[in-house]
Amino acid sequence: MNSPISDLILVNLDAPCHAKLPMHRRIFEIVRRAILDRSIQAGTKMPSTRSLSVEFGCARNTILQAFEQLRAEGFIEAHTGSGSYVADTRPSHGNTATRRKVHTPRELSARGKRLTQFPSRQHFEIEGLVPEVDGFFQFPHKLWQKLQTRHWRAPDQSFLDYSRTGGHTGLREALADHLRLARSVRIDPEQILITAGTQQSLDLCSRLLCDAGDPIWMENPGFWGAHRIFSANEFKIRPIAVDDEGINPSEADLATRPRMIYVTPSHQYPTDVVMSLARRRLLVDFASRHGAWILEDDYDAEFRYNGKPLASLQGLDDQNRVLYLGTFSKVLYPGIRIGYIAVPEDLLEGFRIGLSDVQRPGQIAVQAALADFIREGHFASHIRNLRNRYGQSRAILQYTLQKFLDPAARLSQADTGLHMVIHLPDDCDDVEIAVAAGRKKLAVKPLSGYYFAPPASRGLVVGYGYTPLEALAPAAKILANLVNGSIGKSGKILADPVPRESWAACD
Ligand SMILES: Cc1ncc(COP(=O)(O)O)c(C=O)c1O
Repeated sequence: MNSPISDLILVNLDAPCHAKLPMHRRIFEIVRRAILDRSIQAGTKMPSTRSLSVEFGCARNTILQAFEQLRAEGFIEAHTGSGSYVADTRPSHGNTATRRKVHTPRELSARGKRLTQFPSRQHFEIEGLVPEVDGFFQFPHKLWQKLQTRHWRAPDQSFLDYSRTGGHTGLREALADHLRLARSVRIDPEQILITAGTQQSLDLCSRLLCDAGDPIWMENPGFWGAHRIFSANEFKIRPIAVDDEGINPSEADLATRPRMIYVTPSHQYPTDVVMSLARRRLLVDFASRHGAWILEDDYDAEFRYNGKPLASLQGLDDQNRVLYLGTFSKVLYPGIRIGYIAVPEDLLEGFRIGLSDVQRPGQIAVQAALADFIREGHFASHIRNLRNRYGQSRAILQYTLQKFLDPAARLSQADTGLHMVIHLPDDCDDVEIAVAAGRKKLAVKPLSGYYFAPPASRGLVVGYGYTPLEALAPAAKILANLVNGSIGKSGKILADPVPRESWAACD
């Protein structure tokens, strides 16, 4: 009678994967694989070499060769006088001390768990009111492809190497010119470091400028992405109130000594407020008196619809306390993962080393194409097109909401960015309205969810950038109806605060 092992060999002998192997090698491979995947258990007796040679109609030497190899590699053991047996190939066999299971942690650290507890689920940071992507894809991808191809036709050696200089020189020069003109940033090209977007810039600044436990200030409400980075770096985050002039530190706040201050002066995220000149001066003066660093996140300043773009905070600062952070996520597309930091001269060397050794930047070829995109005027005309388009979106939304909203709801008035805020009375449950809007396929976020500490104001953060123009007015009417239905309904002040993570309910 055939043994199960000889059957197993027979069934697999003609398998295509073994077709080119000599017979002894085929037998070896089949038995070896079966032992490794435990189709043949340890301790199983191997059939005799004589019986196998008869069964397979081959020379006994062929079988002996296969067995010899199996023995040499430890898959089978010869027991004198009783033949060969399958060896125990489990890793800790024969050692009772190591056979005990070693407990290796297979879960995230406490910090890892904290950081990943509330994953961001939305597609874009602030989606369009109607979650259809439209304006977003106005990106001139054919031209973009041409620019990239041009560079790959005769690639520069630097495209293939590690980048240690802070990014593609041409891009840094083009950006310096753009930032000086459009944002009044005081900068030389060498002071610009190219990163993989603002999130990475924030992390680099955090690691290089602060230590764990350092006190820092953040706008409240504010950008959860920055909060995530600051928590990852284990800073003591002090939430600072925001009013209609931007960040508004109290006397008690001003008595503290933050090591770093994170702000969004051109367009406070998410309240849609532009920081007043008085607050800018106060902040720069406070930072220079107390040796604090200011991180200026200028994420969507290109989209100012009326009048001249506002000057950056960095441009006001003659003490070099401001690090200016920019990104191409809004003005081109988030997947490009290119941002930049304008670094004060005395920090430059450390930042260059930090960027190169901690974050290992790359994608120089994409940066080269982007440099051409800016230099050849495509960037400026792309901004003009988007500004025109988003400006229309904003006007339609503003007009329709103002027309239909209950006067108790107040619309934010800034003329910039890709979102606006409907401020609601304190007894209005903004989370409930956002959830109800979600059921009607409208994507809005509850303002209270952007607060890191009480007191939280109620409102709705309404994105419009990526919504088709014709969809805006109907969507705004539906939203106004939902809001109006909830105003004055509960008659009581709601509990404070609604945690930021309540967003998840609205996605
Ligand atoms: C306040 C703020 N800063 C920066 C960014 C851009 O970050 P990144 O460059 O990492 O995409 C966003 C994105 O939506 C944002 O909302």
